[in-house]
Amino acid sequence: MPSFNIVLACVAVAAARCLDFSTIKSAVEPWLPSTDSHSTHTIQARAPCDPLPSGSGPVALIDTPAMFSSNTLVHLPAQIATTPTLYTRQFVDQSASVNAAGYLGYVLLASYDTANCSAQCNAITGCNAFNIYHERDPLQEPGAACINPASTTNIKCAFWSGGSSAVNTANNVNNGQFRFSFQVLIAGSNGYTRIGS
Ligand SMILES: *[C@@H]1O[C@H](CO)[C@@H](O)[C@H](O)[C@H]1NC(C)=O
Repeated sequence: MPSFNIVLACVAVAAARCLDFSTIKSAVEPWLPSTDSHSTHTIQARAPCDPLPSGSGPVALIDTPAMFSSNTLVHLPAQIATTPTLYTRQFVDQSASVNAAGYLGYVLLASYDTANCSAQCNAITGCNAFNIYHERDPLQEPGAACINPASTTNIKCAFWSGGSSAVNTANNVNNGQFRFSFQVLIAGSNGYTRIGS
C-alpha cells in the first residue's frame, strides 16, 4: 500500500473521538476535507499490520465476511431500534452506508443507540440526518504481510446535513470495499432524517 496521509476528523462535540476515515468509502471521497465543518488534520498513515482498535459491535463466532452478514446480532438492533423524537426513518437494516454530499463526520458508539446518535446530531450545527450501522473492520491495518486480518465490528453513527436529500435509500450505496483480502462490510444500517429537512 502506498504511504499517504489519513484524514482524521474530530467531531467538535466529542473531541476525544478522533476517527480514522480511511476505512469507509465515503471518507475517501475528494470532497470530504473541504466540506467537513469539523476540525481536520493529517497524520502519518499507520504501518501495514499495525493493530487497530476493537469496536463494540457483535463479531460472529466464525470470522468470515459471510458469517458477519448472516449474524442475527448485526441485524436485530437495527430492526428493533426506536425512531428518535422529531426524526423519520428513511431505511432500515440495510447492507450499505450513505455516500452523499453534506458529510459531517462520524463517531463510534458503545451500543446501537439511535437516541444517542440523534442527540449527538442535534448538537452539531447543520446536522439534520444520520446513518447508524455496523461495520466489519480489520483488527490490523491490512498489508502484504497480513492480507486478511481478524475482524472487529464498529458501531458507527455518521452525521449529515441535507436531511432527506442526503440520507435516503438512493444514496445508501456504500456496501464496503476490499482492503487487500479483508472485506469491509456494512450491516444493520438505518437512516434517519429530522422532520422537515
Ligand atoms: C453517547 O454514547 C457515548 C458512548 O458510546 C457516550 O460517551 C456519550 O456521552 C453519549 N452521548 C449522548 C448524547 O447520549
